[in-house]
Amino acid sequence: MFLRTLLSSSAILTVVHGLSPSGWRAQSIYQVMTDRFARTDGSTTASCDLGDYCGGTWQGLISHLDYIQNMGFTAVWISPVVENLNASTADGSSYHGYWAQNIYAVNTNFGSAADLVSLSEALHKRGMYLMVDVVTNHMGYAGCGDCVDYSIFNPFDKESYYHPFCLIDYNNQTSMETCWEGDNTVSLPDLRVEDTSIQDTWATWIEQLVSNYTIDGLRIDSAAEVSKDSLAAFESASEIYAIGEVFNNNADYVCAYQDYLSGVMNYPMYYNITSAFASTSGSIAALATGIETMKSTCKDVTLLGSFLENHDNPRFASLTSDMALAKNAIAFQMLADGIPIVYQGQEQHFDGSSTPTQREQLWKSGYDTSAVLYKHIAKLNAIRHLAVQRDDGYLSYNAYPVWTDDNIIVMRKGNNDTQVIGVFNNFGASGSGNFTLLGTSSGFDAEMNVTDVLACDSFTTDDKGDLDIEIEGGVPMVLYSSKQLEGSGIC
Ligand SMILES: *[C@@H]1O[C@H](CO)[C@@H](O)[C@H](O)[C@H]1NC(C)=O
Ligand SMILES: *[C@@H]1O[C@H](CO)[C@@H](O)[C@H](O)[C@H]1NC(C)=O
Ligand SMILES: *[C@@H]1O[C@H](CO)[C@@H](O)[C@H](O)[C@H]1NC(C)=O
Ligand SMILES: *[C@@H]1O[C@H](CO)[C@@H](O)[C@H](O)[C@H]1NC(C)=O
Ligand SMILES: *[C@@H]1O[C@H](CO)[C@@H](O)[C@H](O)[C@H]1NC(C)=O
Ligand SMILES: *[C@@H]1O[C@H](CO)[C@@H](O)[C@H](O)[C@H]1NC(C)=O
Ligand SMILES: *[C@@H]1O[C@H](CO)[C@@H](O)[C@H](O)[C@H]1NC(C)=O
Repeated sequence: MFLRTLLSSSAILTVVHGLSPSGWRAQSIYQVMTDRFARTDGSTTASCDLGDYCGGTWQGLISHLDYIQNMGFTAVWISPVVENLNASTADGSSYHGYWAQNIYAVNTNFGSAADLVSLSEALHKRGMYLMVDVVTNHMGYAGCGDCVDYSIFNPFDKESYYHPFCLIDYNNQTSMETCWEGDNTVSLPDLRVEDTSIQDTWATWIEQLVSNYTIDGLRIDSAAEVSKDSLAAFESASEIYAIGEVFNNNADYVCAYQDYLSGVMNYPMYYNITSAFASTSGSIAALATGIETMKSTCKDVTLLGSFLENHDNPRFASLTSDMALAKNAIAFQMLADGIPIVYQGQEQHFDGSSTPTQREQLWKSGYDTSAVLYKHIAKLNAIRHLAVQRDDGYLSYNAYPVWTDDNIIVMRKGNNDTQVIGVFNNFGASGSGNFTLLGTSSGFDAEMNVTDVLACDSFTTDDKGDLDIEIEGGVPMVLYSSKQLEGSGIC
């Protein structure tokens, strides 16, 4: 007990940046796949075999932080940092970082431990935060589940640390927690994370990792494949915010994890947003229902991760190339309750679908800051940031649909006079529509000037606070008090 007290008081002195859940609420996260973001040599032409290491590094990332910060992001989530399986297999290589072999060494493909420290320092110097991806569920081994040589792992170097081999049946929770991910080409030896001795090893490790690299937040891979208690123990040991990957479309299933972890990726809304906006016949009604379902089921939707793309799911542009639909889906995602997370390449309208094609090297875009969605995302981060500054209650305000029809959903988030009114639609680039937004729905006052911050067009409500809205070319609108916008530089 005494030792524990000593350890935590020294942790308070040294961990200056670690960010609490409430600190994370205000952030906006850019997801980097380290191997695919930027190379140390800065090449924009280097080829990339998507199944293998392509040369992205922490130094390359440091050199391109302007690209991320100028889009308005305040935090960067990077791939797992530990030493991985070094082999080229029929399942590809470990470029993604999810196949650990030695958790006390860094993945030298991404750089040295000193480089990782430099990345953390470079972010903090900008007032930005570092989120690191971590895997507690498994290690990675090139070979079949029945022929693993456990002695190569550090520290879990004996068969007794692992569950007996079996491949997961994803319809069976016990199987998810005790059987193995992967296959017989690359098997992922499944740790007995429900054992307190293993939890203790992970606890000590994560305290050290957070302290050694001054990490501010954690993304926990394969959270639904470990015991819930182990997640709570792990986040608690880290003393920082952790957000778990629970890859499931069911609100009850996903929200249950928020009783153990501060944050969970909002997969149910990901499915609802994608299906609402990926086609002109997508269901706006299901989206509206989904929002209310999450609010009534999860402990705190404002701590969920709100995303549209990641390295495991088909990119939005693989479902439709329509730029207006992409703008709506992204605007909806980023202004929803929770912490917005944008995956590298989303801003360049990349269109990879299955793994690994959605893990394209970002450098092939030339880091184009004039790309349509780059500018769109920058605008959305800016208005969210302003709304947070202007309204103390913005982040904890639960957004709700104030008006819907077959193609349009109007969302309100924020208190009177500083509310953000998002007008989203799935008409598509060749579609248009109009409706009257009642003042009683928007909360806008009579004869109030409001600005659509995306187009920088201004409007004045009528003597009842109503506003006739015309949607052209299917683009979304984000309405905000013109008076509150003054001096912000946004329009
Ligand atoms: C991976 O293995 C190859 C030889 O098989 C070696 O040349 C290379 O240095 C190793 N890479 C790392 C990061 O250990
Ligand atoms: C679920 O998986 C566990 C572990 O593999 C197994 O023992 C159990 O029989 C399975 N249950 C069902 C209903 O299949
Ligand atoms: C943290 O740094 C210490 C001192 O260099 C080292 O012994 C330890 O293994 C490191 N832990 C991790 C998880 O990187
Ligand atoms: C949207 O969300 C609702 C409520 O959570 C759910 O029942 C429905 O299946 C979802 N729809 C789609 C298309 O994912
Ligand atoms: C509004 O939409 C209707 C059809 O739904 C159309 O007839 C009308 O011209 C539109 N009005 C404006 C001002 O665009
Ligand atoms: C917000 O404005 C509406 C009218 O637009 C009013 O009914 C409501 O009471 C106001 N709420 C607060 C908290 O001031
Ligand atoms: C709204 O904008 C108009 C034109 O810019 C201006 O004349 C008017 O005073 C503004 N109204 C309010 C209530 O600020």
